Amino acid sequence: MDIGIKAIEYTLPEKVLTNEELAQIYDSWTPEKILTKTGIAARHVVSEGECASDLAETAAIKLFESGVISPKDIDFILLATQSPDYQLPTTACILQDRLGIPQTAGAFDFNLGCSAYIYGLAIAKGLVSIGVAQNVLLLTAETYTKHIHRLDKSTRTIFGEAAAATLIGHNGHAIGDFDLGTDGSGKNALIIPSGGARLPRSEATAKEYEDNGSIRSQDNLFMDGAEVFNFSIRVVPQSVKNVLEKHNLALADIDLFVFHQANKFMLDYLRKKINIPREKFYVNMQDIGNTVSATIPIALKRAEEEGRLHKGDKILLSGFGVGFSWGSTIITY
Ligand SMILES: CC(C)(COP(=O)(O)OP(=O)(O)OC[C@H]1O[C@@H](n2cnc3c(N)ncnc32)[C@H](O)[C@@H]1OP(=O)(O)O)[C@@H](O)C(=O)NCCC(=O)NCCS
Repeated sequence: MDIGIKAIEYTLPEKVLTNEELAQIYDSWTPEKILTKTGIAARHVVSEGECASDLAETAAIKLFESGVISPKDIDFILLATQSPDYQLPTTACILQDRLGIPQTAGAFDFNLGCSAYIYGLAIAKGLVSIGVAQNVLLLTAETYTKHIHRLDKSTRTIFGEAAAATLIGHNGHAIGDFDLGTDGSGKNALIIPSGGARLPRSEATAKEYEDNGSIRSQDNLFMDGAEVFNFSIRVVPQSVKNVLEKHNLALADIDLFVFHQANKFMLDYLRKKINIPREKFYVNMQDIGNTVSATIPIALKRAEEEGRLHKGDKILLSGFGVGFSWGSTIITY
């Protein structure tokens, strides 16, 4: 019996932040320039007091209301987030209670960003294949604006917020083998320097500094866009090659490529470098931005709704980013 993806639902926070609003703050960038560079016109962002758990809960309720499964039949919750409600306990435990999932379910958070969906599929497939669980609820929920300084144009233009809920179990769209990778030497390229045990928050860490037209402090998210770009073009083509080899498939055998929706500039570059025909490369982020761990499930759901997925199609998924961390797999629809 195939272990696979049985259903996906997602949610976006109500509040929308447009390029027009951002261009009013960053006067050297016009709305058109942001759109041309990133492929993003707007992104959804949480309101004050709205957390990743709230988005994850809404996405999970949508999944339950679709009738595909009831909360009582979920026996494992995996939650990927880098903006948990608390340092501890793990947000997945809180969601077990809020969603009415039985106390016999396992639950934990894992701290990954743009590669998290692929890792979540790998963990979920592993749990089902060894019989620890039958129905895994994989939640990917992110609220990076909690970490972003409002005057940091490098990150604020790119990231948006969302949550996705994916049900993994027997008889779904089969999840294949994985190519996973890690390069921790890139830790400083995408980081919130303070707030952990290494550098506790203090007056010193809250001190703002200017960097290339952006303002932030060590309490905020920092991204070295060029480093992240260089890392991605170095590892993603190889990861695609590796995962194709694991399945004995050629590039031409893949019906649709669904990559982490980082930004248009990066996706265009990767598509050309790997030599993927435009019509087989899914990009859909103009109205939502880079939603970190939620980009791949949202893209899959949107591709399905647009009729782009057909029975038997091979869909290659690849996620890459903060860590550095990356992973690819192939789904048979
Ligand atoms: C962020 C990124 C798009 C910037 O592209 P870049 O070409 O390296 O940008 P540079 O800083 O060299 O600037 C080149 C031009 O683009 C502009 N630019 C850069 N980022 C921009 C943005 N977010 N919006 C609008 N314009 C932008 C610069 O102002 C500059 O314009 P100019 O030529 O008129 O002076 C690119 O580095 C990238 O894709 N990095 C990966 C980031 C990412 O996806 N992170 C998510 C984690 S997975």
